[in-house]
Amino acid sequence: MSLSSDETILSTPLDVERIRQDFPILATHVNGKPLVYLDNAATSQTPKQVVQAIADYYNTSNSNVHRGVHRLSQVATDQYEMARKKVARFLGAPLVCEVIFTSGTTEGINLIAQTYGRQHVGKGDEILVTHMEHHSNIVPWQMLCEEKGATLKVVPVDEKGDIIFEEYEKLLSPRTKLVAAVHVSNALGTVNPVKQMIEAAHAMNIPVLLDGAQSTPHMPINIKDLDVDFFVCSGHKMYGPTGIGVLYGKGKYLEAMPPYKGGGDMILSVSFEKTVFNSLPYKFEAGTPHIEGTIALGATVDYLNAVGMVAIARHEQMLMNYGEEALQAVDGLRFIGQAREKAGVISFVMEHAHPHDIGQILDEHGVAIRAGHHCAQPIMKHFNVPATARASFAMYNTKEEIDALVNALHAVNKVFA
Ligand code: ALA
Repeated sequence: MSLSSDETILSTPLDVERIRQDFPILATHVNGKPLVYLDNAATSQTPKQVVQAIADYYNTSNSNVHRGVHRLSQVATDQYEMARKKVARFLGAPLVCEVIFTSGTTEGINLIAQTYGRQHVGKGDEILVTHMEHHSNIVPWQMLCEEKGATLKVVPVDEKGDIIFEEYEKLLSPRTKLVAAVHVSNALGTVNPVKQMIEAAHAMNIPVLLDGAQSTPHMPINIKDLDVDFFVCSGHKMYGPTGIGVLYGKGKYLEAMPPYKGGGDMILSVSFEKTVFNSLPYKFEAGTPHIEGTIALGATVDYLNAVGMVAIARHEQMLMNYGEEALQAVDGLRFIGQAREKAGVISFVMEHAHPHDIGQILDEHGVAIRAGHHCAQPIMKHFNVPATARASFAMYNTKEEIDALVNALHAVNKVFA
């Protein structure tokens, strides 16, 4: 698969203008103004090569996977399984069969809660999350704790938006059955010290699940190097399609876990007396999967590899630095979350305008950001705000777009002056 017509591999610094040509949506106008898309943490845009992969699938190989002896089914199955290999390599997963396709991060976390969690968590046990989790990494654990009589423990966060590591270490105990932590916060942009967190948990034989929804698009991920036990992420936040995500789990856990959903493809044999479940990864992929989404996720990974995750991370870090500097020129603007290490996100409030008003006025200027609690209400409460405005970056964003954001924020101040 090629990046663009001339098949050049992009090198650092990113040729952003060239990359932007792969994303036709970026050339559109909103309210008569050029679109400035800074809501990438909610959903990133998709390059035409990935859209083409979806069309190619339907135009040339649409068929069910793992079922047919006919040609089309074999082609679709090969492409589907090739995508699994590509994703495994991209994430640095030790074994391809440890990569399960899900509908997204939320499903991945719920799958672990309902299988590993129900199997291992009992009365008096604890699950440890951080104060900056997305609701999808809080609610499934609360539901499990409620059912089992277990307790959800919370790692505190300081005034900058960093976890307090000593408190984390103190909270790890023989009662802790799992640490479930976000890699990069969607609300603050904090990059958590996950390697150290995993090491500390493993020293006490506690497995760790990482929510990688906001890290996978912004930095190289190496599951083997992290030695993480479970890792989840979503296609639509990493330039891929919606409705597809990945759950990585160490084989020793996945093998021992019961299935999450029952149905076709997850069995070896079924009789009314006894069903024998399929091997990994199929045991966790009941029913017809999101075939074109999976194949397109493979194409997404091709695209990201061609651009280079290191180059993307560098470019976005440059944007973050430029943005944090530039936004200081806006009267009454206050950052929410100034952690030691951040990726992808600048969250802020303004003295005279509610985040929703900011979002609305920015939209009139063609600037798309997110305003709200970002499905992370506990961390909003920690910072004593109901909501923030959030600009979030992707490989195709430019300094000029940040200038447009700043100009639009000056306009917000004029409205509320
Ligand atoms: N979790 C997504 C966000 O942060 C929707 O915007």
